[in-house]
Amino acid sequence: MNSIRLTRPDDWHTHLRDGAALELTVAHAARSFARSIVMPNLVPPVTTTALAAAYRERILHHLPQGADWAPLMTLYLTDNTDPEDLVAGAEQGVVTACKLYPAGATTNSDSGVTDIDKIFPVLSAMQQAGIPLLIHGEVTDADIDIFDREAVFIERHLKRIVESFPDLKVVLEHITTRQAAEFVASAGDRVAATITAHHLMYNRNHMLVGGIRPHYYCLPILKRNEHQQALIDAATSGDASFFLGTDSAPHNQSAKETACGCAGCYTAWQALEMYATVFDQANALDKLEAFASLNGPAFYQLPVNTTQVELQRQPLEIPTSFAMGGETLVPLDAGETLGWSLVQ
Ligand code: NCD
Ligand code: ZN
Repeated sequence: MNSIRLTRPDDWHTHLRDGAALELTVAHAARSFARSIVMPNLVPPVTTTALAAAYRERILHHLPQGADWAPLMTLYLTDNTDPEDLVAGAEQGVVTACKLYPAGATTNSDSGVTDIDKIFPVLSAMQQAGIPLLIHGEVTDADIDIFDREAVFIERHLKRIVESFPDLKVVLEHITTRQAAEFVASAGDRVAATITAHHLMYNRNHMLVGGIRPHYYCLPILKRNEHQQALIDAATSGDASFFLGTDSAPHNQSAKETACGCAGCYTAWQALEMYATVFDQANALDKLEAFASLNGPAFYQLPVNTTQVELQRQPLEIPTSFAMGGETLVPLDAGETLGWSLVQ
């Protein structure tokens, strides 16, 4: 197969940031996707419906002419989230989902939830209103090895959340382990997971063998190859519980390439072609449309997009850098070539 057509895909997890970054990040999201779930971990975080509505306006201001794309907004849960505000935000069509960051788990998560019991009233309201809970599933305890943070989160917290709220829709975001893939596959229709292109394409050897490559450093961190294989199996299985979420996160070159490089891979521009390359290598191109374009809308109970995209088996060169608001942004695999490209 040298060419495939897909219903236009959506990205169920992305970071656009704010201000001068938006011109670039919005254009890149709109290159391949019709809708993007926009993460709320700004500084300060997007914690209320009013803040989400204002952020949405700033994003839409940068929509390129003729673009077929829309942002879907999320709220950042804190110990003090007001359930009435988020339910009202969902009813007004401003809020699509809410994100749980355990405090300190990742970039800009200092205001995250310190104890999951504190948000049980909020989770109850979300269950009642049908608002999905999106979870960054990692514990932050200093005695837990960074490679075990996701598996321990599932045992200590996720199982209890899912049992306590039997009708709550839950997305375990950017899963990285066999344990996560198995849990989600066995947890029924209302528990789903996003999988990034970089966790499908890479494992921790790519980040650490032959030198430390800071552009591969993200959270949750890349795991062993056996976990990578479990993610490929899940994504290409056709199971409707798994769908596309890039977790693309724009960081300046100076923040990534330094003695203490920050977490986040920028893949927004080329992620669709990365997914196509992985699915092709797994002989599963026939499963790409379900993963990229159908399973997400079904879970979120949103319409499937009506337009299509075409991908061709043609080399795609990833740019070496992008200018982002006076700074330089280096995408993952800058200057490398992928085997598939989107027909523009
Ligand atoms: C993300 C970011 O930069 O906002 N970084 C990352 O490593 N994935 C936050 C996140 O999703 O963890
Ligand atoms: Zn993220």
